[in-house]
Amino acid sequence: MTSTQRQTLAVYPGTFDPITMGHVDIIHRALNLFDRLIIAVAKNASKSPLFSSQERVVLIAENFVDEPRITVEAVSGLVVDYAWRKGATSLVRGIRAVSDFDYEFQLALANRKLNREVESVFLMPGFRWIYISSTMLKEIARNGGDISELVPANVAAAVKQKFEEMSE
Ligand code: COA
Repeated sequence: MTSTQRQTLAVYPGTFDPITMGHVDIIHRALNLFDRLIIAVAKNASKSPLFSSQERVVLIAENFVDEPRITVEAVSGLVVDYAWRKGATSLVRGIRAVSDFDYEFQLALANRKLNREVESVFLMPGFRWIYISSTMLKEIARNGGDISELVPANVAAAVKQKFEEMSE
Protein backbone atom coordinates (compact mmCIF):
# COMPACT_ATOMS: atom_id res chain seq x y z
CA MET A 1 0.00 0.00 0.00
CA THR A 2 1.29 3.47 -0.88
CA SER A 3 1.26 6.31 1.64
CA THR A 4 -1.54 8.03 -0.32
CA GLN A 5 -3.95 5.10 0.10
CA ARG A 6 -6.14 5.40 3.17
CA GLN A 7 -6.93 2.31 5.15
CA THR A 8 -10.61 1.67 5.75
CA LEU A 9 -11.60 1.25 9.36
CA ALA A 10 -14.95 0.06 10.69
CA VAL A 11 -16.31 -0.35 14.19
CA TYR A 12 -18.47 -3.38 15.03
CA PRO A 13 -20.34 -2.43 18.23
CA GLY A 14 -22.41 -4.77 20.32
CA THR A 15 -23.06 -6.07 23.79
CA PHE A 16 -21.42 -9.41 22.95
CA ASP A 17 -22.69 -11.06 26.13
CA PRO A 18 -21.14 -13.35 25.05
CA ILE A 19 -19.75 -13.36 21.52
CA THR A 20 -21.35 -16.13 19.42
CA MET A 21 -20.36 -17.90 16.20
CA GLY A 22 -22.83 -15.60 14.49
CA HIS A 23 -20.84 -12.56 15.61
CA VAL A 24 -17.62 -14.31 14.52
CA ASP A 25 -19.19 -14.89 11.10
CA ILE A 26 -20.02 -11.17 10.80
CA ILE A 27 -16.47 -10.26 11.86
CA HIS A 28 -14.96 -12.40 9.07
CA ARG A 29 -17.33 -10.86 6.52
CA ALA A 30 -16.41 -7.36 7.72
CA LEU A 31 -12.72 -8.15 7.30
CA ASN A 32 -13.42 -8.84 3.61
CA LEU A 33 -14.73 -5.28 3.27
CA PHE A 34 -12.53 -3.21 5.58
CA ASP A 35 -8.78 -3.08 6.19
CA ARG A 36 -9.17 -2.84 9.94
CA LEU A 37 -11.98 -3.57 12.39
CA ILE A 38 -12.50 -2.44 15.96
CA ILE A 39 -14.86 -4.66 17.92
CA ALA A 40 -16.43 -2.30 20.44
CA VAL A 41 -17.98 -3.82 23.56
CA ALA A 42 -20.62 -1.20 24.26
CA LYS A 43 -23.45 -0.65 26.71
CA ASN A 44 -27.02 -1.40 25.75
CA ALA A 45 -29.00 0.39 28.49
CA SER A 46 -31.73 -2.26 28.42
CA LYS A 47 -29.40 -5.21 29.12
CA SER A 48 -27.85 -6.57 32.32
CA PRO A 49 -24.91 -8.57 31.05
CA LEU A 50 -23.73 -11.85 32.53
CA PHE A 51 -20.07 -10.97 31.87
CA SER A 52 -18.32 -7.72 32.80
CA SER A 53 -17.25 -5.59 29.85
CA GLN A 54 -13.60 -6.50 30.52
CA GLU A 55 -14.46 -10.20 30.56
CA ARG A 56 -16.29 -9.80 27.24
CA VAL A 57 -13.31 -7.97 25.72
CA VAL A 58 -10.97 -10.81 26.74
CA LEU A 59 -13.36 -13.52 25.48
CA ILE A 60 -13.47 -11.82 22.08
CA ALA A 61 -9.77 -10.93 21.86
CA GLU A 62 -8.67 -14.49 22.67
CA ASN A 63 -10.26 -15.58 19.38
CA PHE A 64 -8.37 -13.08 17.24
CA VAL A 65 -4.81 -13.15 18.59
CA ASP A 66 -3.56 -14.04 15.10
CA GLU A 67 -5.51 -11.28 13.35
CA PRO A 68 -3.56 -7.98 13.56
CA ARG A 69 -6.35 -6.13 11.71
CA ILE A 70 -8.68 -6.55 14.70
CA THR A 71 -8.71 -4.51 17.92
CA VAL A 72 -11.14 -5.15 20.77
CA GLU A 73 -12.07 -2.38 23.19
CA ALA A 74 -14.69 -1.59 25.82
CA VAL A 75 -16.52 1.61 24.96
CA SER A 76 -18.59 3.96 27.07
CA GLY A 77 -20.77 6.76 25.73
CA LEU A 78 -22.05 7.02 22.18
CA VAL A 79 -20.66 4.48 19.78
CA VAL A 80 -20.80 6.87 16.84
CA ASP A 81 -18.67 9.43 18.73
CA TYR A 82 -16.18 6.71 19.55
CA ALA A 83 -16.06 5.60 15.89
CA TRP A 84 -15.51 9.18 14.73
CA ARG A 85 -12.70 9.75 17.24
CA LYS A 86 -11.01 6.58 15.97
CA GLY A 87 -11.28 7.70 12.34
CA ALA A 88 -13.76 4.98 11.37
CA THR A 89 -16.07 5.53 8.42
CA SER A 90 -18.53 2.73 9.12
CA LEU A 91 -20.46 0.98 11.85
CA VAL A 92 -21.01 -2.70 11.11
CA ARG A 93 -24.12 -4.48 12.38
CA GLY A 94 -25.44 -7.95 11.71
CA ILE A 95 -29.02 -8.53 10.65
CA ARG A 96 -30.29 -12.03 11.19
CA ALA A 97 -33.97 -11.81 10.33
CA VAL A 98 -36.73 -9.34 9.56
CA SER A 99 -37.36 -9.12 13.31
CA ASP A 100 -33.99 -7.39 13.74
CA PHE A 101 -34.84 -4.77 11.17
CA ASP A 102 -36.97 -2.28 13.18
CA TYR A 103 -34.44 -1.99 15.97
CA GLU A 104 -31.47 -1.77 13.62
CA PHE A 105 -33.24 0.80 11.47
CA GLN A 106 -33.90 3.01 14.51
CA LEU A 107 -30.36 2.62 15.79
CA ALA A 108 -28.88 3.45 12.38
CA LEU A 109 -31.08 6.53 11.99
CA ALA A 110 -30.19 7.73 15.50
CA ASN A 111 -26.51 7.26 14.74
CA ARG A 112 -26.89 9.07 11.40
CA LYS A 113 -28.61 11.96 13.16
CA LEU A 114 -25.67 12.14 15.58
CA ASN A 115 -23.02 12.01 12.86
CA ARG A 116 -23.73 11.86 9.12
CA GLU A 117 -20.13 11.02 8.26
CA VAL A 118 -20.34 7.55 9.77
CA GLU A 119 -22.37 5.07 7.72
CA SER A 120 -24.09 1.98 9.11
CA VAL A 121 -23.33 -1.15 7.13
CA PHE A 122 -25.47 -4.27 7.56
CA LEU A 123 -24.17 -7.76 7.00
CA MET A 124 -26.07 -11.03 7.04
CA PRO A 125 -24.55 -13.98 8.89
CA GLY A 126 -24.44 -17.47 7.41
CA PHE A 127 -27.80 -19.21 7.47
CA ARG A 128 -26.80 -21.62 10.25
CA TRP A 129 -26.37 -18.69 12.66
CA ILE A 130 -29.60 -16.90 11.82
CA TYR A 131 -31.51 -18.32 14.78
CA ILE A 132 -29.00 -17.92 17.58
CA SER A 133 -28.74 -15.09 20.08
CA SER A 134 -26.67 -14.51 23.18
CA THR A 135 -29.79 -14.74 25.35
CA MET A 136 -30.82 -18.04 23.79
CA LEU A 137 -27.49 -19.72 24.26
CA LYS A 138 -27.21 -18.50 27.87
CA GLU A 139 -30.64 -20.04 28.49
CA ILE A 140 -29.49 -23.35 27.00
CA ALA A 141 -26.30 -23.35 29.10
CA ARG A 142 -28.11 -22.30 32.28
CA ASN A 143 -30.27 -25.39 31.91
CA GLY A 144 -27.35 -27.72 31.31
CA GLY A 145 -27.54 -27.81 27.49
CA ASP A 146 -24.59 -28.00 25.12
CA ILE A 147 -23.63 -24.71 23.42
CA SER A 148 -20.27 -25.82 22.06
CA GLU A 149 -21.34 -25.52 18.41
CA LEU A 150 -22.79 -22.04 18.90
CA VAL A 151 -19.86 -20.24 20.51
CA PRO A 152 -16.05 -20.30 20.39
CA ALA A 153 -14.48 -22.88 22.75
CA ASN A 154 -13.22 -20.29 25.27
CA VAL A 155 -16.73 -18.83 25.51
CA ALA A 156 -18.36 -22.23 26.09
CA ALA A 157 -15.92 -22.83 28.97
CA ALA A 158 -16.44 -19.34 30.43
CA VAL A 159 -20.24 -19.60 30.31
CA LYS A 160 -20.14 -23.00 32.01
CA GLN A 161 -17.83 -21.65 34.71
CA LYS A 162 -19.99 -18.56 35.25
CA PHE A 163 -23.13 -20.60 35.84
CA GLU A 164 -21.26 -23.02 38.14
CA GLU A 165 -20.00 -20.06 40.22
CA MET A 166 -23.50 -18.60 40.36
CA SER A 167 -24.99 -21.87 41.62
CA GLU A 168 -22.42 -22.25 44.43
N1 COA B 1 -25.22 -13.86 15.30
C1 COA B 1 -25.83 -14.23 16.42
N2 COA B 1 -26.45 -13.37 17.22
C2 COA B 1 -26.43 -12.11 16.86
C3 COA B 1 -25.81 -11.65 15.71
C4 COA B 1 -25.18 -12.61 14.91
N3 COA B 1 -24.56 -12.28 13.79
N4 COA B 1 -25.96 -10.33 15.61
C5 COA B 1 -26.67 -9.97 16.66
N5 COA B 1 -26.95 -11.05 17.41
C6 COA B 1 -27.75 -11.11 18.62
C7 COA B 1 -26.91 -10.98 19.84
O1 COA B 1 -26.56 -12.25 20.30
C8 COA B 1 -27.82 -10.24 20.76
O2 COA B 1 -28.66 -11.14 21.39
P1 COA B 1 -29.35 -10.79 22.79
O3 COA B 1 -30.29 -9.63 22.54
O4 COA B 1 -30.02 -12.04 23.14
O5 COA B 1 -28.25 -10.37 23.74
C9 COA B 1 -28.63 -9.36 19.81
O6 COA B 1 -28.61 -10.02 18.58
C10 COA B 1 -28.04 -8.02 19.54
O7 COA B 1 -26.95 -7.85 20.35
P2 COA B 1 -25.55 -7.28 19.99
O8 COA B 1 -25.31 -7.23 18.53
O9 COA B 1 -24.54 -7.99 20.82
O10 COA B 1 -25.65 -5.87 20.54
P3 COA B 1 -26.82 -4.94 20.96
O11 COA B 1 -27.92 -4.88 19.97
O12 COA B 1 -27.15 -5.24 22.37
O13 COA B 1 -25.94 -3.63 20.86
C11 COA B 1 -25.42 -1.37 20.98
C12 COA B 1 -26.51 -2.40 20.86
C13 COA B 1 -24.51 -1.67 22.17
C14 COA B 1 -24.59 -1.35 19.72
C15 COA B 1 -26.16 -0.05 21.15
O14 COA B 1 -27.00 -0.15 22.29
C16 COA B 1 -25.19 1.09 21.33
O15 COA B 1 -24.63 1.56 20.35
N6 COA B 1 -24.99 1.49 22.61
C17 COA B 1 -24.06 2.56 22.98
C18 COA B 1 -24.79 3.89 23.14
C19 COA B 1 -25.15 4.40 21.78
O16 COA B 1 -24.32 4.85 21.02
N7 COA B 1 -26.44 4.29 21.47
C20 COA B 1 -26.91 4.61 20.12
C21 COA B 1 -27.57 5.95 20.04
S1 COA B 1 -29.24 5.84 20.55
